[in-house]
Amino acid sequence: DAGDIEKGTYPHFMLKEIDEQPFVIRKIINEYQTNDNELKLDAAIRRAMKASDRIYIIAAGTSYHAGLVGKEFIEKLAAIPVEVHIASEFSYNMPLLSDNPLFVFISQSGETADSRAVLVKIKEMGHPALTITNVPGSTLSREADYTLNLYAGPEIAVASTKAYTAQIAVLAILAVDTAQAKGIELDFDPMQELAIVANAMEILTDQKETIEELTREYLATTRNAFFIGRSTDYHVCMEGSLKLKEISYIQAEGFAGGELKHGTIALIEEDTPVIALATQANVNYSIRSNVQEVVSRGANAMIISMKGLEQDDDALVLPHVHELLTPLVSVVPLQLLAYYAALHRECDVDKPRNLAKSVTVE
Ligand code: G6P
Repeated sequence: DAGDIEKGTYPHFMLKEIDEQPFVIRKIINEYQTNDNELKLDAAIRRAMKASDRIYIIAAGTSYHAGLVGKEFIEKLAAIPVEVHIASEFSYNMPLLSDNPLFVFISQSGETADSRAVLVKIKEMGHPALTITNVPGSTLSREADYTLNLYAGPEIAVASTKAYTAQIAVLAILAVDTAQAKGIELDFDPMQELAIVANAMEILTDQKETIEELTREYLATTRNAFFIGRSTDYHVCMEGSLKLKEISYIQAEGFAGGELKHGTIALIEEDTPVIALATQANVNYSIRSNVQEVVSRGANAMIISMKGLEQDDDALVLPHVHELLTPLVSVVPLQLLAYYAALHRECDVDKPRNLAKSVTVE
């Protein structure tokens, strides 16, 4: 509990937890690997994943955003269709289920009441459930058939950081394990790629001064901000905007780059900050033309790109990692932007108003 965990030299738990992310990724690599470099996952989880014709990911908040990334891993690597649902919506508006659904609950705390309500319902219906959580022994872990641990260590700041990246890393491992169980040949070594990610995260957490400077340049006085991206970058934009909202109270939205012109671009004024992610080769050109569209309407736009896709004026270039795993690194500067924006506004970084670390009421 918070009382036993120390901030050490850090001014806030959130900053400490952002910095811990490379270590968490390395911990996950160790925990999910045998001495022979094989993946180490419960055989029962393998069987359940393999037997399912459709995975239903259920989560809330940041964990929902991790689920959106996880869907891509499971569909692209393990070739099983995936739906990602907000727990509080699923409860009251359940979609038509497939013949052999497997429910995957993603929850840092394992205590979110909205997610538990779905778990209770689907267990009554007789469906299998896997919980991915940072708290072994939590309610969602105990009541599901299977559990995968995040090994992120206690997360104290209300705004989730290291649990999000841990969830994504574990989902990547789960997807590869399932692919192997199905006999799918992959040209993707998750542990090797995650090790590269851990190093990339470290390079970014060492660039705090640059990111603090960017915060001053783009978010110092604004009342609103937009994050745009396409494909997987869009999902990270949703998380980046949630971080900013939660702790700095800047009204922020994450948008799919191509969707802007269908309405939201009406909100762009002189100096509106727009933060764009460009980590995916197939949309590098199109996201940059979306940036041009907002810049020509006065936006104060910054591009965060991936090494290999960068252009001269990009505000920040992320170290290169495997294209599937870019959310693990692109989210780090967005977490830091939110942190410094909150700091500049003298907000209570670790305990934002109106929010609770885990919401145990529906
Ligand atoms: C609360 C927290 C969020 C978190 C969400 C889901 O709203 O403030 O940071 O993402 O609950 O929590 P869980 O523990 O289920 O991941």
